[in-house]
Amino acid sequence: MCGIVAYVGRADALPVLLDGLRRLEYRGYDSAGVALAGDSGISVRKAVGRIANLAAEIDQNPLAGNCGISHTRWATHGAVTRENAHPHSDRSGRLHLVHNGVIENYLTLREQLIERGHEFHSQTDTEVLAHLVGEAYDNSGTKGEGALVEALRTALRQVIGTYGISIVHADVPGVLIGARRGSPLVLGIGKNEHFLASDVSAIASHTRDVVYLNDYEIVRLRAGEFEISTLSGTGSDYRISRVDFDPASVDKGQFPHYMLKEIHEQPHTARDALRGRLSIEEATAKLGGLNMSNGDLRAVDRIVLTGCGTAFHAALTGEYLIESLAHIPVECEFASEFRYRNIPLQRDTLVFVISQSGETADTLAALRESRRKGHRTLGICNNVASTIARESDGGVYMHAGPEIGVAATKSFTSQLTIFALLALLLGRIRHLSHSDGRDIISALESLPDLVARTLEVESQVAAVAKKYCRASNFLFMGRQAHYPVALEGALKLKEISYISASGYPSAELKHGVIALITGETPSVFIAPQDAVFEKNLSNIEEVKARKGPVIAIGTEGDTTLSKICDDVILVPEAPHYLAPILTAIPLQLLAYHIAVELGCDVDKPRNLAKSVTVE
Ligand code: AGP
Repeated sequence: MCGIVAYVGRADALPVLLDGLRRLEYRGYDSAGVALAGDSGISVRKAVGRIANLAAEIDQNPLAGNCGISHTRWATHGAVTRENAHPHSDRSGRLHLVHNGVIENYLTLREQLIERGHEFHSQTDTEVLAHLVGEAYDNSGTKGEGALVEALRTALRQVIGTYGISIVHADVPGVLIGARRGSPLVLGIGKNEHFLASDVSAIASHTRDVVYLNDYEIVRLRAGEFEISTLSGTGSDYRISRVDFDPASVDKGQFPHYMLKEIHEQPHTARDALRGRLSIEEATAKLGGLNMSNGDLRAVDRIVLTGCGTAFHAALTGEYLIESLAHIPVECEFASEFRYRNIPLQRDTLVFVISQSGETADTLAALRESRRKGHRTLGICNNVASTIARESDGGVYMHAGPEIGVAATKSFTSQLTIFALLALLLGRIRHLSHSDGRDIISALESLPDLVARTLEVESQVAAVAKKYCRASNFLFMGRQAHYPVALEGALKLKEISYISASGYPSAELKHGVIALITGETPSVFIAPQDAVFEKNLSNIEEVKARKGPVIAIGTEGDTTLSKICDDVILVPEAPHYLAPILTAIPLQLLAYHIAVELGCDVDKPRNLAKSVTVE
């Protein structure tokens, strides 16, 4: 949550910072602010709401400089107000700081600072950090960048929590200081200019040479040089990486919203998730990034899948796929619970953490806890430069390209595609025959075309969205691997339309949920032609008997659903291990078109941020 961009160099810093903030707006958009060091000292501008509001504020009140910090906020501590917008200043008003993360002991620190005469102007944890650093600097008796870095060390040693921070101080014009623990921070290296950002997308149009800072590292930047050290004061062995980033991949193109663009990218992302990973000769999948031999994989007797939100729903689907194709017991755990549950894990348990961003705080914590316990822990990530990708023992990249829409879409179907590959690989090491493997491979090869054909239902889904968009409550139901798809459909609708929605296994209906059925409560049933089709039909009948409208997602060629359901969307036929990828797509489109009908901000829904980097 929250995005930081900082710049020092010869150019005008403001356009760099505003452009970077716009690219980080997916991390939060409650307020934004900037502090620029110019000829007459440091000037600060802040505005509540989007970056556009900050830009308008700056138009009214211009500022300039070659060195500055900026921030887009997702509120954790303190309401969405101008006072709580970053940057925050110390007691002297000469130090300004932006922060991504949470200072957990800020109340204690704040009380101690108040006792020492400090006054606070916001309710944020960040202002405490600014005062701590400023106080340590002022008490040090020396001035200059070395003293500022030392003061930062003194302050950070008192802090419990997470931070990615950047600081400017009026005493050291032309100098930026940054530090990280738990929140991402990347250093961009340019020619006579340097950058700091929460995400490489903010600076990739200026430089491709970056250093991903590690936890407990501090960086000092000038236009022509940088120095990385650790919190304990030693030097750091950093590595400069070359970023492969296509700025066009973060444009909306001809689409009105990123979410719609990303939904329509799914034939390509399915192809990219499969590319180079199918071995027809051996009738299996090749996932070299797992860093495990077939012998290692054969020894796995249990798998734990963990993630948050959409990634957790993908994990639940993965559980069905792996158990049915590979016969390995799988358990799914919310990443936010993993660390606190103390789950008994046997020695040969393999843990997968699933995260599009690779920066989700709870998922990262689960990864660290699993590794601490000595388990081989693999990542399924989209962001190759992310902390989770770097800290895991191996894994599988989604190769889905940047996902900007806050509602995850293409990452979900990429995750499901990867689970199909994983289930094939694990199954082929165990009981799946060569010909079973070949059948699965040819089904996987047809997946991109099936996804493209599924997208053809869009106009039909848009009409259904128009019909039901005023409903205040939706139910989503499915069986087996379509139950997690139901959960995902409900999540999509909730997060971008603010309509109450919940997902259930269809059979749970009569155990309580049926009480919610009225003529105004649409039920979305995922009822493809599979082994439990008739069971789903009975559940649909139960809803219809109570006058509940039913929207069914079925299989092409189906003639039964239209006889009892109000609306039917048919998707291409696919084997059970690929069908959830197809049934998810109409639900993504349904949520999208309902949100558009209601005039909601599809790509930036209220209260949310794309990357949840706080616990
Ligand atoms: C999904 O639409 C959400 N925006 C959210 O649930 C998301 O999937 C979750 O926060 C996990 O994110 P990650 O995949 O980047 O870890």
